[in-house]
Amino acid sequence: MNVDDPADDPDGPLRMTPGPTEIPSAVRERIASQPPNPDVEPEFFAFYRDLCGKLEPIYGGDDVVILGGEGILGLEAAIASLVAEGDRVLSLSNGVYGEGFAEFVESYGGEAVVCEAPPDEPLDREAMENHLSEGEFDVATMVHCETPTGTLNDLEGILATLADHDVLTVVDAVSSLGGVPVPTEHIDVCLGASQKCFSAPPGLAVLSVSEAAWDRIEAVETRALYTDLEPWRDAADEEWFPYTHLASNLLALDSAIDLLREEGLESVYERHEAAARRCRERAREMGLELYADESMASPTVTALSVADADGIKERLWDEEDVLLATGIGEEADEILRVGHMGHNARIDRVERTMDALDRVLD
Ligand SMILES: Cc1ncc(COP(=O)(O)O)c(C=O)c1O
Repeated sequence: MNVDDPADDPDGPLRMTPGPTEIPSAVRERIASQPPNPDVEPEFFAFYRDLCGKLEPIYGGDDVVILGGEGILGLEAAIASLVAEGDRVLSLSNGVYGEGFAEFVESYGGEAVVCEAPPDEPLDREAMENHLSEGEFDVATMVHCETPTGTLNDLEGILATLADHDVLTVVDAVSSLGGVPVPTEHIDVCLGASQKCFSAPPGLAVLSVSEAAWDRIEAVETRALYTDLEPWRDAADEEWFPYTHLASNLLALDSAIDLLREEGLESVYERHEAAARRCRERAREMGLELYADESMASPTVTALSVADADGIKERLWDEEDVLLATGIGEEADEILRVGHMGHNARIDRVERTMDALDRVLD
């Protein structure tokens, strides 16, 4: 037990939300240290390059860029930088974040064709293939883990088909990167955020960009200024960032990634699988049902079908000091979500959460 960590105190609060997650003490300590000046100190640029280098293997080897801003900034920046007036974008969706991409596309002047599947079903590959045979697309968007419904989309075949059609791919892997292997092979822009499986504080959008995506970003006449990724291509090497970087958040992320590397990615992935398995076993023992079929459930978050999710959440926090999340959108009150991601993907934390849930449901 780490006595510095309130979540390890059996009477302390335990936040098992699907991001932001609890932050390990080493990461909290680092954010309290004096950061270098991110505008002028050469050491800062060296540190930033080193951090991107540590992140690259998690993202499959492409260039990594870290933006100061939360996850949504990365989603918007990707679309703003890749999509010009009149470009055609195929948006695969089975949830809130998948659908949200289309709004970014339209607001930057693109034409979004949405391939929509119900939230408890896999992405519609057949519909995608029909669209691809009927017309040309510049970019395709999709989500790996739809956090609001706890589903993990199987992307490998979809990405390979899109690569065969020379369509650039943008994948929101915000709640899977660092907790689940992401099939990065045919991803051109892969989007993550600091506060999910990395267990650093919220505030950084962490994304990778392939060579093909950089070339398109340079070619596209974008409407974007603040969200334009183009200046980031050489920023670290030229030692000039488009705006003052969030130095303290970057220090925290660096410590979080060191913890991940010390443990080893394979063991991190296994820890997530084990936590998810135990959470679902306990849910079944309590007679609870998963929102979607278990074959679709993400190792990072469990979505349970319940009545009055909001009431259960309130009681868990008031009576048990355990924080969970409800759903998002129309089904918000019918879904209760247990986040077992990052630092929280631990059996003892899952057991304490499910004990508390058991008492409240009793
Ligand atoms: C799948 C997914 N994409 C994007 C986001 C947006 O991230 P942020 O809340 O950091 O803006 C979230 C947040 O929960 C998410 O779950």
